[in-house]
Amino acid sequence: MSTPRVLFVCLGNICRSPLAEAAFRRAAKKAGLEVQVDSAGTANYHVGEPPDPRSIEEAGRHGIDISPYRGRQLSARDFHEFDHIVGMDRSNMTNIAHVDPGDGKAKVTMMLDLLSGHEGREVADPWYGGQDNFRDTWDDVSRGAEALVAILSDGHS
Ligand code: 4NP
Repeated sequence: MSTPRVLFVCLGNICRSPLAEAAFRRAAKKAGLEVQVDSAGTANYHVGEPPDPRSIEEAGRHGIDISPYRGRQLSARDFHEFDHIVGMDRSNMTNIAHVDPGDGKAKVTMMLDLLSGHEGREVADPWYGGQDNFRDTWDDVSRGAEALVAILSDGHS
């Protein structure tokens, strides 16, 4: 199996998708699965910026330093370079579809559709919330990440 390339996408690339990227890196490593991972935002508001301090704090509680991550914007080229593009909520999915060039290889999925019993549920935007909301984000993305690792490890990509 070639190394799966996975891109996690939210709106700003500073709250949810950096946590998804970190959780997926960890889950893949634990499973001994070699992956290439990145994250991006559909908006350009935070390009070049580090993750939100509340995301850095939350990842830190799990022993992961995401402070070197930098925001970037989703581009049409990503659909050719990644095998999987994983959005967090329905609004992300609509925005992702607007960038989709239509002739890429990426399979586009909403994160919790990967988690049995949670299909159709969104990873809520924690931007206007408090640290508790970022805790919920971590719970969602880490469970989704583990489900994706299990899918990729089974060879169903
Ligand atoms: P994210 O959260 O999409 O999970 O990174 C947000 C980050 C920034 C904004 C909204 C949501 N914003 O409006 O700047």
